[in-house]
Amino acid sequence: MKGKILVTGGTGYIGSHTVVELQNVGFDVVIVDDLSNSTAAVVNQIEEITGKRPAFHQFNLQNLELLGKFFKECKGIDAVIHFAAFKAVGESVQKPMNYYRNNLVSLINLFECMENAGVNNLVFSSSCTVYGQPEHLPVTEQTPRQTAESPYGNTKIVCEDIIKDYTHANPKIQAIALRYFNPIGAHPSALIGELPNGIPNNLVPFVAQTAAGIRPQLSVFGNDYDTPDGSCIRDYINVVDLAKAHVISIGRLLDQKNESAFEFFNVGTGKGVSVLELLNAFEKATGQKVNYKIVGRRAGDIEQIYADTTKANSVLGWKSVATLEETLLSAWNWEQRIRIKG
Ligand code: WQD
Repeated sequence: MKGKILVTGGTGYIGSHTVVELQNVGFDVVIVDDLSNSTAAVVNQIEEITGKRPAFHQFNLQNLELLGKFFKECKGIDAVIHFAAFKAVGESVQKPMNYYRNNLVSLINLFECMENAGVNNLVFSSSCTVYGQPEHLPVTEQTPRQTAESPYGNTKIVCEDIIKDYTHANPKIQAIALRYFNPIGAHPSALIGELPNGIPNNLVPFVAQTAAGIRPQLSVFGNDYDTPDGSCIRDYINVVDLAKAHVISIGRLLDQKNESAFEFFNVGTGKGVSVLELLNAFEKATGQKVNYKIVGRRAGDIEQIYADTTKANSVLGWKSVATLEETLLSAWNWEQRIRIKG
């Protein structure tokens, strides 16, 4: 066995795909998740994909007593991948204290318990949202972070600073933060994917639900931006490619290849795609027309962002491989399966 990895938030969208990829290369995985934005059935689906059932413990990381008890009972953890966080941009504006308390206290508790248990490796789920609307594109890891547009985004900035300061004070602890661009798609098996609670905030689940007839029409938030077709541009990264970046990061930490106590990487495709281009790609990939209308801009949206992935390609040795069309088809296949499954 290559080692035992704790995955917090491991029944969530990116977490579950990462558990599958960890198991596929021989890691033993333990999931801690409070199921606030996922279901325990995901553990069954992971087992169906890999043939291995990850251990699963249900609690929130704000509960220091339960987290400490977990680390005392679950021996031999070699590294932690920390996904568990609240992540709805709009909700964070309405309930900022829930976001600051949950996202910051969870990380602080995790570090305290890791130190007591002698667990020295952390991969952290960060986000391109730390860049705000960058001056220059594509963004590199040297692009200055900017005040986030939302409390959610600010928790990512503050968590990165907590990691920087903590690893500086405790050089035994090594950490990697992965700054995701826009994760989309689903596992090729269509057994796991993105399960938004209620009306999706994010584009691709809304597109898939519109194509499936669950939503009558997609609203495209603005076509008056300074982009070729007027709609916003993002860097849409396949969720399985993204999951593999976590596995490579774990390997880098376990092999102690980190050049500094805290490293961070942009994880995207390096290609900017507009909303309207994505809709065309979805229709081409799936044969499904998407009924949409152009409406006003959404508050808080930035005009365009996409990654310079040179560092992840050269230092991590990771590269995205899935095409946009393949990824959108995987999202459609997942949407159809959950509709059949109900
Ligand atoms: C993408 C584009 C919208 C919905 C957010 C978070 C980011 C990360 C990913 C967590 C934008 C447009 C969307 C719709 C639309 N989350 N859109 N109609 O806002 O880039 O990023 O989710 O880590 O941190 O900020 O993603 O999918 O919401 O929007 O036109 O119904 O699609 O305006 O241009 P976003 P998104």
